[in-house]
Amino acid sequence: MNSFIINSPLDMHLHLRDDDMLKLVGPFTSRHFSGALIMPNLLPPLTTKEALLAYKNRIKEACKDDEFEPYVTIFFQVDYSYEFLIDIKDEIIAVKLYPFGVTTNSETGVSSMDVEVLRPTLESMSKLGIPVCIHGETKGFVMDREKEFLPIYESLAINFPDLKIIMEHISSKESIELLKKYDNLYATLTVHHLMLTLDDVTGGMLNPHAFCKPIVKRPEDKKALQELALNAYPKVMFGSDSAPHRKETKECDDGAAGIFSSSIALQALTQLFDENGKLDNLNAFISLNAQKIYGLKPINKSIKLIKKDFVVPSQYSYKEERVVPLFAEQTLSWSINT
Ligand code: NCD
Ligand code: ZN
Repeated sequence: MNSFIINSPLDMHLHLRDDDMLKLVGPFTSRHFSGALIMPNLLPPLTTKEALLAYKNRIKEACKDDEFEPYVTIFFQVDYSYEFLIDIKDEIIAVKLYPFGVTTNSETGVSSMDVEVLRPTLESMSKLGIPVCIHGETKGFVMDREKEFLPIYESLAINFPDLKIIMEHISSKESIELLKKYDNLYATLTVHHLMLTLDDVTGGMLNPHAFCKPIVKRPEDKKALQELALNAYPKVMFGSDSAPHRKETKECDDGAAGIFSSSIALQALTQLFDENGKLDNLNAFISLNAQKIYGLKPINKSIKLIKKDFVVPSQYSYKEERVVPLFAEQTLSWSINT
């Protein structure tokens, strides 16, 4: 096949940041995607209706040349009241829960993942049908953080059977077993966890632009995740976790965690599915599964990919902001037809 149409792509885990960075990265998603689930880990994080609606307007302004739906979220707090959640319910697609200190801008995350501490808020969300998206990592050894978090996912799945729980950006094969075990668990998968291993970050020269939380893992993890995506397992959906940081905060001491991939995601996924003879499942992975899981009716968009080399730019810039994309200066075998 030399061309392929993706219908109404959805990115169900996306960081758009704010100000000039938002203006730089927003259009890479809005041009080609119908919608995206937007992460709330701004500084300060989004925890009020006023801040949320103002941010949504800034996103719409930054993406105003395109038809695009930002599905916004708020940052989980243990003291959200039932009344607050009723009031904000129609504005949000989900609430994002970060354990304290596990990733970029999670310093106001929850300090205890004890079920009883979380119960009032999660019970309210369950009653109101608001899904919870979780960054599932502990503060243990970096390669084991996700695995160590699995008992927490399991106890949440058991304690809140009617709550939709999204295991964000799963990165290890052990997570797949748990995902399959409970009906109320779902997961997002990124391009980088499907296409990289730790060797791509630290196996040769250090690549800070492939550094993220959770860290990409072993070949067998990548393979197991690929199998889920390539077969469009109905409980997984695409979520890029595209998380831009300024070039100078990646290429420095204390380099920030986060991979910018929104400008290359469709091309890279098409390449991956094509190489494995699974293009027939790409629309389910990139749109239909998310539509079913979240009950969405996305804006109609048809994006034509063609089998033609795409040399990924070394960086993108707007005013003072510069970001380096995943696969910078490498060649992908599929391009977006413009
Ligand atoms: C994300 C960021 O930079 O906001 N970083 C990352 O490494 N993925 C936060 C997150 O999703 O963990
Ligand atoms: Zn993220």
